[in-house]
Amino acid sequence: MSAAGQVQPKLIIHVGAGSSLKNKGEIEVVRQDLYKFIDVIYGKLLTGTAARTAVVLGCQLLEDDPRFNAGKGSVLQSDGQIRMSASLMDGATQRFSGVINVSRVQHPIDLANFLQGSADRVLSDYGSAELTRELQTPIFDPLIDVRLQEWEQERLFHFHKTMASVIAEKEPPVDPVDPHARRGTIGVVALDTQGQLAVGTSTGGKGLERIGRVSDSAMPAGNYATTDAAVSCTGIGEDIIDECLAARIVVRVTDGLSLQTTFERSFTEADRNNRDLGAIAIDKTGAIAWGKTSEVLLAAYHDGGQISDTLEVGPGTKTAVC
Ligand code: GLY
Repeated sequence: MSAAGQVQPKLIIHVGAGSSLKNKGEIEVVRQDLYKFIDVIYGKLLTGTAARTAVVLGCQLLEDDPRFNAGKGSVLQSDGQIRMSASLMDGATQRFSGVINVSRVQHPIDLANFLQGSADRVLSDYGSAELTRELQTPIFDPLIDVRLQEWEQERLFHFHKTMASVIAEKEPPVDPVDPHARRGTIGVVALDTQGQLAVGTSTGGKGLERIGRVSDSAMPAGNYATTDAAVSCTGIGEDIIDECLAARIVVRVTDGLSLQTTFERSFTEADRNNRDLGAIAIDKTGAIAWGKTSEVLLAAYHDGGQISDTLEVGPGTKTAVC
């Protein structure tokens, strides 16, 4: 709390979890991207922008970055189509909204934001398409060449992989049977100067999935907030749903566990269950946390003093609170 009675804002963002980035150049490119976004979003929080507004802005910026699997640059599903999912939760109102498997929009998070004020707050594909028409949202093709090439390569190999290999590479994976698939879902968690929390998560899904598959990113399992804590998850959606991870973390904090104990406990359980996932969080005291069972979590945060990241944290470290 500052002298003026305002809370020190906090911010953490992620762009996926999976296998480690081996190339130092790749790591630096992702780091520069994340720091640039953190600068913009944190700058807004410092000038009094509400957590929800800052989260929407953050998700828009990350959806626009073709390196990540959300908005522009989303992966293709088994039938060669892009279907994106996004959700937003305002901790102050404890209200969840989202869209599932929406196509041809630049910012799925904008639809989730619109739905915050609607009586019907989670829409699937048909309803989302109707909403984009109603809002006269310009048609946008999120396809980029790399993702199309990846899908075409998979087609040659008869789609033997169960998900796409995505994250921050500029080129498609050299080895088409690369077992180290990487997920580039994006997420933003913010605490504003009024002490309010919000979280947003956006994804192109796993890639190569069955038509109609529903991502955790548009469920409280993958994106959840109350006045106590806010959490965004990344990784394999089915694993996140099976752990009900975001909601599980928030409920534990609400029941009185510290964010540190909550993360240690939740990630020990997830590890024991062989899950492949990661999560980022902020609680109402301003504690920032991240956790992963995956080899790496691509996240960066502003703790009020400086920007740090998790890009080079190895598999040995599962959780941390800053
Ligand atoms: N976590 C993103 C997905 O599995 O769809």
